[in-house]
Amino acid sequence: MAMTKKKIGLIGFGCVGQGLYQLLKEKQFREAEIVAIAVKSKKKKRNAPKELFCYDAMLLVNDQEVDIIVEVIDDPEYAYEIAKRTLRQGKTLISANKKMIATHLIELQVLQVEFGGVLLYEAAVCGAIPVVKKLDELFRYENIRMIRGIFNGTSNYILTKLNRGSSSYQDALSNAQALGFAETDPTNDISGLDALYKTIILARHSFGITLHPDALLRFGIENIQACDLAYARSNSKRIKLVPHLFSVNAKFGAFVLPQMVDISDKLYHVDDEFNALMVESDFAGEQLYYGRGAGSYPTAFSVFCDIRDAILERRYAAQGVSDISNLLDDENILLDVYIRFHDPEFLHLIDVDFITEGIIDEDFRIVIAQLSISKIKALLPALSERKAFLALLGKISIQGDQELQAVKRSTYEEVF
Ligand SMILES: NC(=O)c1ccc[n+]([C@@H]2O[C@H](COP(=O)([O-])OP(=O)(O)OC[C@H]3O[C@@H](n4cnc5c(N)ncnc54)[C@H](OP(=O)(O)O)[C@@H]3O)[C@@H](O)[C@H]2O)c1
Repeated sequence: MAMTKKKIGLIGFGCVGQGLYQLLKEKQFREAEIVAIAVKSKKKKRNAPKELFCYDAMLLVNDQEVDIIVEVIDDPEYAYEIAKRTLRQGKTLISANKKMIATHLIELQVLQVEFGGVLLYEAAVCGAIPVVKKLDELFRYENIRMIRGIFNGTSNYILTKLNRGSSSYQDALSNAQALGFAETDPTNDISGLDALYKTIILARHSFGITLHPDALLRFGIENIQACDLAYARSNSKRIKLVPHLFSVNAKFGAFVLPQMVDISDKLYHVDDEFNALMVESDFAGEQLYYGRGAGSYPTAFSVFCDIRDAILERRYAAQGVSDISNLLDDENILLDVYIRFHDPEFLHLIDVDFITEGIIDEDFRIVIAQLSISKIKALLPALSERKAFLALLGKISIQGDQELQAVKRSTYEEVF
C-alpha cells in the first residue's frame, strides 16, 4: 500500500531552511514534501518557486493539510508561539531553536503528551551530530556520569584561529558570520549562552533534570586576550569553551566555562566549527561524538533526520521522566581555575586561601586558584567589568567526595 506523503510547512528560509529545501530536493525524498514556506521579508529574492511562499507563519500552523511544522527562524519568542500552537493541534513540531527549547522544554513536552503531537529538536544541539537522540537512548539504560564537549561552532572557530595565532578576534568572528554558522546576533555564541542552552537540553536527556539558564555558572570568551593565549601555549594547552554536566551519587552539577585543555584531551583536537561531545557512563564507558556543529547542510541534515523519525513515530524517552532537580550545592563543587586581570585591586576579591600560584607581569596578573562555583559566581560581575578572563584548568572536585584533593594553602606573600 502506497504511503501518503507527509506535508511539511517550513517556517524560515535562511541558512537552515534553504539547506533543508535543497537537501530534500537532492535526496528526492518521497515520504514528505515542503508544501509551503513562511518567511518575514517580502523583499528578499528566494531560491525556490514563488508560489510556495507566504508571510504569516500561523497560516501554515493552522492549515489542516500540513502535518509537520519545521520551525527554523531566528526569533525565539515567535518560535515559542509557533511551537505551542503546533503542538496544541497534535501536529509534529521540529525546531532548531535551542533558546526556545531550553527555556520552554517542560511546557512543550507536556503539550506534546496532552495533545498527542511529536516534538523533536536534534538540530538545536551540535548540528549534524545526533547527540540528543544518543543521550536519550543511553539515559534509558545507563547511569551517565559526565558529559563535556564543544557545543558552539562559532566560539570554537574563533578560538581555533586565536590558538593558532592566525587571526584577530574580530576577523575570526566576521569569517564565522560570513560562513553562516554564527547566529544572526553572535553575542550568545561568544558569551557561552548558546552552549548553556544546549547544556540545559542535554541535561534533560541525560539526567532527566530541568535546569534554569540563570542558575548555572557561565563565562564566555569575550574577554580573552593575547596573554591568556600565550599562557595556554607556554603550558602546551589550547583554550576551548567547554560545557560540563556531571553526576555524583545521584546529584548533578553543570557549568559552561572556557577551559585550558592539553594534548591528551580529545577536545584539544576539535577545531574550527566542529563540535564534539564526550560522555562517560557506567557500562558503555567513554564515548566521543564528533562532527559539524553548524552550517546550512549539516544542520538541515539533523532536521531531515527528525522528519524521518517523526514519520516513523519516534519520540524522545525523556518526555516521561520526572523532574528530580537534585542539584549539587555550588558551595561543594570546587574548580581549579586560571584568572587573569589587570587591576591589582581585583586580587582582593579572590579568597587568598584558595590561591596556589601567582604570576606578575608588567601589564597583567595571573592567579591559579581552587574556587567553589559559588565563589566564582560572586566574581562574575567584577570579571566582566574589568575585562578579566577565567578558565577551568581541568580538575573538578566535589567536597565531601573521596576524590577531593587537599587545597594547598598560600599567603599573599607566598603567591606574589
Ligand atoms: N545556522 C546554523 O548553522 C544553525 C545551527 C544550529 C541551529 N540553528 C538554529 O536554526 C534556526 C535558524 O537559523 P538560521 O541560521 O537558518 O537563521 P537565518 O539564516 O538568520 O534565517 C532566519 C529565517 O527566519 C525567518 N524569520 C524570522 N522571523 C520570522 C517570522 N516571524 N516569520 C517567518 N519567518 C521568519 C527569516 O525570514 P527572512 O528570510 O524573510 O528574513 C529567515 O528566513 C535558529 O534557531 C538557529 O539558532 C542554526
